Amino acid sequence: MSDQATSLEDAARYRLPRTAVPRRYDLTLEPDLAAATFGGTCAVALDILEPTNTLVCNAVDLDISEAWLTNPAGDRIEIEQLALDDDLERCTIELASVPVGNDWTLHTVFTGELNDKLKGFYRSTYTDVDGGERVIATTQFEATDARRAFPCWDEPDLKAVFGVTLIVDDDLLAVSNAGEVARTSTGDGRVAVQFADTMVMSTYLVAFVVGPLEATAPIDVGGVPVRIVHPRGKGHLTDYALEVAAFSLDYFTEWYGIPYPGDKLDLVAVPDFAFGAMENLGCVTFREALLLVDPERSSQPELARVTQVIAHELAHMWFGDLVTMRWWNGIWLNEAFATFMEILCSDAFRPEWDLWTDFCLSRTAALDVDALRSTRPIEYPVVSPADAEGMFDLLTYEKGAAVVRMLEQYLGTDVFQAGVRSYLARHAYANTETTDLWDALEEASGEPVRRIADSWIFQGGFPLITVDLLHDGRILSFTQLHFRYLGDLGEGDEAAENAQDAQRWIIPALLTQRGNGVTTLEKVLIEGDRTDLELVEPVEWLLANTEGTGVYRTAYDPGLLEALAVRAQTELSAVERYGLIDDAFAAVLAGRSDLVTVLQLVERFADETDLAVWQRIIGVLRTIDRLVVDDDARHILAGNVHGLLAPAYERVRALHGPDDRARQLRGELFESLGSLGGDPNVAVEARTLHLASLADPDAADPAMVSAAIDVIAATGDAHDFEDFLARSKAATTPQEQLRYLGALADFEHDALTDRLVALLLTDEIRTQDAPYLLRRALNNRTQGPRVWAFVAERWDDLLERFPSNSIVRFLEGIRSLTDPDTADSVLAFFETHEVPQGDKILAQHLERLEVGVALRARDTEHLTRHLRHER
Ligand code: BES
Ligand code: ZN
Repeated sequence: MSDQATSLEDAARYRLPRTAVPRRYDLTLEPDLAAATFGGTCAVALDILEPTNTLVCNAVDLDISEAWLTNPAGDRIEIEQLALDDDLERCTIELASVPVGNDWTLHTVFTGELNDKLKGFYRSTYTDVDGGERVIATTQFEATDARRAFPCWDEPDLKAVFGVTLIVDDDLLAVSNAGEVARTSTGDGRVAVQFADTMVMSTYLVAFVVGPLEATAPIDVGGVPVRIVHPRGKGHLTDYALEVAAFSLDYFTEWYGIPYPGDKLDLVAVPDFAFGAMENLGCVTFREALLLVDPERSSQPELARVTQVIAHELAHMWFGDLVTMRWWNGIWLNEAFATFMEILCSDAFRPEWDLWTDFCLSRTAALDVDALRSTRPIEYPVVSPADAEGMFDLLTYEKGAAVVRMLEQYLGTDVFQAGVRSYLARHAYANTETTDLWDALEEASGEPVRRIADSWIFQGGFPLITVDLLHDGRILSFTQLHFRYLGDLGEGDEAAENAQDAQRWIIPALLTQRGNGVTTLEKVLIEGDRTDLELVEPVEWLLANTEGTGVYRTAYDPGLLEALAVRAQTELSAVERYGLIDDAFAAVLAGRSDLVTVLQLVERFADETDLAVWQRIIGVLRTIDRLVVDDDARHILAGNVHGLLAPAYERVRALHGPDDRARQLRGELFESLGSLGGDPNVAVEARTLHLASLADPDAADPAMVSAAIDVIAATGDAHDFEDFLARSKAATTPQEQLRYLGALADFEHDALTDRLVALLLTDEIRTQDAPYLLRRALNNRTQGPRVWAFVAERWDDLLERFPSNSIVRFLEGIRSLTDPDTADSVLAFFETHEVPQGDKILAQHLERLEVGVALRARDTEHLTRHLRHER
């Protein structure tokens, strides 16, 4: 979206001409793991659609030594010239003559490097049980990096069949999208492993992984063999993933009403991985921590994450792999839908986890971006690979999923499912536009789905619905406004500002009313500036966002709000209670309310029992705690927070039994009692608990162990730091490793911060993990500014070292640097530094930082006086 890069000319430059398009690829690759190189040959059967002697495909960082064309008649066409364009990542081949007929095959011979940038065909390493370093060659092609592994027509609508052969040392495991069909010795200690043909599919879904890996024995799930592939010695961490994969595969086969489109399913744990996971058909790749897990020693969020990631990728086997977006502007629907299905499936797997309630926190995170003037529409024109990379964000995933959920709830689950089924059946093995889904849902429901959806997809932001009772409670009135934190777009942008002010949505709202002893649920489509409803009965209370599935915020008139607040614990669901707090806090950020009001609201939630609601309360308290600098006031605040949290903690303290959410709540309340409530006993207890868990890892509650590790870090010294670093290296599960590693960012001593940031640039911390540690360190209450100084100083090194997609991820941490000096330094820095693959996301981080700065300037003094009882 950079600089309206969308000029037509530009658009054409990045798209391949359709004169010749691929039908099938026969691809042979020979990775040399020790030398970190690979050689390959590729034969592409082409459909030649127009006579031409120029072929244009994609290739980058490949050395193509030979190319020629053949046909079955034995004719051969040589190459006049082959030119690579590094900028456009294209290869242009001039042929000696024009191929006639439609049975030509392009042959290429090439070599490349197994890079360390975690994209294309790349190198990943791990330390074996015997202490030796082992090398894996693996792929990550989405969005546009298949072209780094073999010359190809690397656009999602140019689907083809892939026949892959890997030539590898015979003691290595090799997997790809389809099952192995032949294995022939090459006579030099290597084997040629040939895989079955894939279905017709997009290049970005091709995958191959080669290395000293193990696979679990296949389990049969409705005729599909399912395995977990993993580094040696980790087989004992695969049972849980197998269980989830089997459940999800069954679930989706049934839900979509279409058989799984592959011939087998491998889930592969890769030690170095830029993303979380990737939906390559039949060969799904994961970060280790998102696949390999010991359920007995993991907390509920750790397990839920593994569950959801597996479900998400398997949801893509149909939605994404079988039916694929025509172009990258549609990547949002691919991801939004998979995110929606991930929760649907995981919720069926573990109903007691209440994952739709958890989803509130994701929706909040998305709306927090979407309330910025620098937000973007969910769907926008994509021209360059950088544009596609910039789509990988909260708006695509979380806002997108929230909009899908809102539609599903409004249309009804059965109708929604019927629409999706017919969409998939109609477009199997093909490509779609976003509107194809709306059309199918429209047919299934008879509702104006396209009109509703367009108002959410093609404009950024979301509405604030103001609810008023008028005319003695006989008229219920809804008014909609564009909700923004900062309204002012700055000088000279009046036109844009007016346009944003004028935005309106078609809002599918679910309205609950209580009056005369009955509760009713009603669907209302709120359109235009104002919608009035006539009430037949007087209402006791009403809720304009039932189950919180609407993607909007609500402002009730004071009487209606009070009616809800007093009934929160008795009449509202956890999601709805969450919404009361979340809307109240968003109003503070927007300058429509103040911190004292929201503090007084959360203080009414002492009886709260739900995890997500407490997480939101704790989040609000944490923000407030960061703003208060006056010592006395902070002390008083800590006392108030303690008063609020301690009884809740006491209620769950002695908990035994299997309630995962309650156990997680206990862990989080414990941690917050220490950090926000200033309870000195917490640090002491944390150490006791940690020691006990070391003595008997199976006896401790994983949620408490996680919390204890965080508490120790926040209060720990150099000895603890080195201890945690060593424990992360010696950890026996990926989750344990991450707990200790992550906690390194929470220490509050300058010297330890310096030690950490220096480590981030060494091989002691994987480049897949370092950015997330850096983000957490930027969020450190006392050390954030120091970490920022490091980022500014070592900017070039960070850009060079970290995976491209992770730069804007770690920069998210700048949002919390709201003290005026640091904020100024951050804003000044980005006047002269840029992140082309995430310019929009960076602009959002910066604006969100300004929102925090403005809140601090506006409200801290009032809050401080309130706390000190000085009115
Ligand atoms: N297809 C994505 C990964 C991806 C997206 C790679 C865009 C390249 C460009 C995959 O399905 C995905 O969404 N992965 C998530 C994890 C998921 C559970 C939210 C990720 O990697 O964060
Ligand atoms: Zn996805």
